[in-house]
This record gives sequence, structure tokens and C-alpha cells, in this order.
Amino acid sequence: DKAEKSGYEHFMLKEIYEQPKAIQDTMASRISQEQVDLSQEISLSSQVIQQIDKVQFVACGTAYHAGLVGKYVFEDLTRIPVEVDIASEYRYRNPIITERTLVIVISQSGETADTLAALREAKKAGATVLAITNVVGSSVAREADQVLITWAGPEIAVASTKAYTSQLIAIYLLGTYFAQMRGTCTVEDAKQIVSELTRLPQRVEAILEQSAKIKDFAAQIVNHEHLFFLGRGLDYAVALEGSLKLKEISYIHSEAYAAGELKHGTLALIEEGIPVISLATQRAVYEKMVSNIQEVKARGAYLLGLTVEGDQELQKSVDAVLHLPETLDILSPVLAVVPLQLVAYYACVARGFDVDKPRNLAKSVTVE
Ligand code: AGP
Repeated sequence: DKAEKSGYEHFMLKEIYEQPKAIQDTMASRISQEQVDLSQEISLSSQVIQQIDKVQFVACGTAYHAGLVGKYVFEDLTRIPVEVDIASEYRYRNPIITERTLVIVISQSGETADTLAALREAKKAGATVLAITNVVGSSVAREADQVLITWAGPEIAVASTKAYTSQLIAIYLLGTYFAQMRGTCTVEDAKQIVSELTRLPQRVEAILEQSAKIKDFAAQIVNHEHLFFLGRGLDYAVALEGSLKLKEISYIHSEAYAAGELKHGTLALIEEGIPVISLATQRAVYEKMVSNIQEVKARGAYLLGLTVEGDQELQKSVDAVLHLPETLDILSPVLAVVPLQLVAYYACVARGFDVDKPRNLAKSVTVE
């Protein structure tokens, strides 16, 4: 059993540590001469790509959270309006689809019933459907018009980790490729994204080296039954994923909030000692985020903060801080999620639950 886990205690931990390789493998053959080249896999002509007037990301759970990142990335890079839908909602909501709509379904397993049903609905309505999936030959891969495989390798733990970061890489590659084709980013911008993408594996490695510190982080929350995750922009999307991971395996109730929403109700729940994990990796909203952090701090919250290397400010407002390696803001989710995965993992282990097979959950939800 241990051999299967390559010496790791659990599949989830093994898969967290496999992320540098998984993301490397997902981008490897798709980058050449500092540009993204997907022409071997995606058979959409540059004319068709230019005519797309709406993108809809459709997925469930963690894959849906990857879609939320996709919205920011696609709108920023390609200037195409993007919607993100939970597959079980999309299939019943009569979405507006035309021949110029590109529906991107994301599914690790490629067998999720709701995602597959949404794919079929979208196809029937005339959309082009592109699948991002980890399983070659899966139902989603077979039925989609276009397929981009994530090369994360088999993911065994129910809690998805390396599949998520690989899905993010697929999204960055697609977004950059489309932007190159549509002329919505300069050659220089594309080069910069590509060059930063190729540095992500070593940067994830650097975070994994801080695991002892992250374990200490986790120790601060294990005896709590409720906590909050806060972020703005892309950090909010990552907060949602961190919160799901924690709930799924540690059974600690948590909620993720867009930090600016706090004042609209949730702030009432902040009381002495409640842990709040706050993400402050997005430079454009950094000041706003710090002021939200100070608001919860003033109400007695125990704050764990995530920021970028070199930031000496955040530590003045939080109880413990973790610095992430520098990267482009847009790429930060790939790094920011890693400590959150480890916090969930260590919290689960400390609370004595089954890491790889959480109660009530299946790896792949093949029934509605
Ligand atoms: C994530 O940790 C979950 N176990 C779950 O949300 C999962 O991402 C979801 O069921 C979607 O699965 P899929 O990617 O195989 O379609």
C-alpha cells in the first residue's frame, strides 16, 4: 500500500507533492518559442476563435472553482465575456447559447454526470464544446468537439489537488493562445506569461518546502468548528477552493467570502478567536484587502495571512503570515492554493479522519 503511495502517508499528500510535475507535464509540449501553441490539439481556426462572442465555463466542485479562475483569466486576456456555471444548474437554466458560444467543460474524471449532461445540452444548442479533462478516452473527452488533456496523472484521493492546478495551467494556456489569435495581448505580454508559467513548478516546490510552517498554521484551526476564508479577485476564487478542501476532509465548517461582502452581513459572525484565513496576493486590491483584514482583526479574529514575498506590511495586521514566491498576479492561484491544500490535509490528519476517503463522498459523481 505504501509503495503505491511512493512512501507518502496518503494519496492526497503524494498528489499535492506531485504538483510541480503535473503542471510541468501539462504545459510541456504546448509551449514553443516563448509562445503557446495548441494547434496540434485544438482544431479551431483563428477565424473561428476570433468570432467567439461568449465563453461559458461549466463544471462541478473543484473543477467549477477552476472555472471561476478561468473567468478572470479569459476576460483579462481575451476580452471575451465569460459566464461560469455549476453544471447541475446550467443544465436546467435554459442558458443563452449560439453558434458563437464556446462552452468549456472542466472535469478531472470526465465522467461527472451533471457535467456530461451540460455538455450534451450545449452541443444540442449549437455551441462548440471544449473539454479540459484528465482522463483520455473519458465520456467528456469522447463527446466534446475539442479536448485539452491535463497531464496530472491518476488522481486517487477524493479531494482534488493536482488536477485543479493542472486545470489552471490548461486555462492559462488556452487563454493565452486565444489572446495571441485575437490580438488582445501583445507578443511581449504573451512571452511574459509563458516565461512565468514555466517557472511555476519550481515556485510550487518552494512552497512545499515550507510545509512545517503550514502545519503550524493548520494546528491553529484544528480545534475550531467554524472559520472563514477571505480574498478579493482571483484570491476569492482560491478562497472558495481552500474552503471546499477543508470542509471535504477535515469536516470543519468554513465559508469563503469576497472580502468586500463582509460588511453586508457576515461580519456579524466574526467574534473573539474565530480563525480567518486571508489571501492578499493580488496587488490591484491589496490595500482594500488589508483594510478588510484590519476590520476582522478589530473584532477579535485570529488571522492567518497569505501574501507575496517581499511584503512586510501584512504581518503587522495578522497573527501568522506565509509568503508565496513572486509571480504574475494572474498566475497566483496556482501558488496560493497549495498552502490551503496542505492546511486541509494537516487539519484532517490532526483530527484523525480518513484523508483519502472522506465520509459520504465518491471520487467521481456519475449519478445525478
Ligand atoms: C474536489 O475535491 C471534489 N472531490 C469534487 O468537488 C470534484 O472536483 C467534483 O466532483 C468534480 O469532479 P470531476 O472534476 O471529476 O468532474
